[in-house]
Amino acid sequence: MNVGSLTVVGMGFGGGGQITAEASQVIGTSEKVLYLVADTSAAEWIRAANPTSESLGECYFGRANRLEAYLEITERILSFVRRGLRVCAAFYGHPGVLVFPSIEAIIHAREEGFDARMLPGISAADCLFADLGLDPGRHGCLTFDATDFLVRRRSADMTVPMILWQVGAVGRLDYPRDGNKENIKVLSEVLQKMYGPRHEVVIYEARVAPGCDPIMEIVCLEHLADASINLLSTVYVPPRDEPFVDEDMARRLAMPEDFLLKVNRLASKGIPWLPYARPSFAQTHER
Ligand SMILES: C[S@@+](CC[C@H](N)C(=O)[O-])C[C@H]1O[C@@H](n2cnc3c(N)ncnc32)[C@H](O)[C@@H]1O
Repeated sequence: MNVGSLTVVGMGFGGGGQITAEASQVIGTSEKVLYLVADTSAAEWIRAANPTSESLGECYFGRANRLEAYLEITERILSFVRRGLRVCAAFYGHPGVLVFPSIEAIIHAREEGFDARMLPGISAADCLFADLGLDPGRHGCLTFDATDFLVRRRSADMTVPMILWQVGAVGRLDYPRDGNKENIKVLSEVLQKMYGPRHEVVIYEARVAPGCDPIMEIVCLEHLADASINLLSTVYVPPRDEPFVDEDMARRLAMPEDFLLKVNRLASKGIPWLPYARPSFAQTHER
């Protein structure tokens, strides 16, 4: 194994509040820390924890082509590993969730004979599960990058909750800040064909600092392009239909009859639009 190593860590959201103990330890003890985070409090936290810290922001923000930016970030991380340093690369959220350069850097570092690993972090989806009360195991959970969803014509299942990432950059190769909503209109049209124009979705933004509230804006699909969607927005699309229960299969699996009764009782309560009480949620957050 060559001298030099790479540990990729996640910062979660909201400053340093969601950073894990092991990630914190790696940031504090690495010989070089490179970071790409979305808020200044997280950047301040990292710089205070390790004086070698350096932002990757200039390789990323404002670039015309995100893929090229990702490749540049990968190379920048690897350049310090190749110098024989114990390097930590810190990204906001979970470092393996929609973070192209983190996985690329680990693959290349390992190919070149360096020790490289990733530690998990708290992703925007984890925050969404907590804030919306969505349990991804209860009715499943589909999750797509919004561009991938459209361009590959991914199928939605009308009985399964769906999370769409990077809606604010749908179909864009750059890091858009021009407020152009044309591609969001396309997404809205496609979703309306599937779910209907009055189907309500949540524009979600996790809290960016401790003490802040998360943003949860409810809009009908027909008004999706009018909503305040930005580069940090994640869209939660609740299921439209009741999930089907195959009773023959349940019996074949020797599942007890009272399980089926329970399932039917739960189903009769309606679609789990939002598991947290809808009236109070709507009063506080509906536009
Ligand atoms: C490049 S991905 C990074 C995801 C991040 N690694 C994670 O684990 O959540 C950027 C996308 O993550 C989501 N995202 C980023 N910040 C967010 C926030 N504060 N609240 C909700 N979603 C967020 C949005 O869908 C955004 O377009």
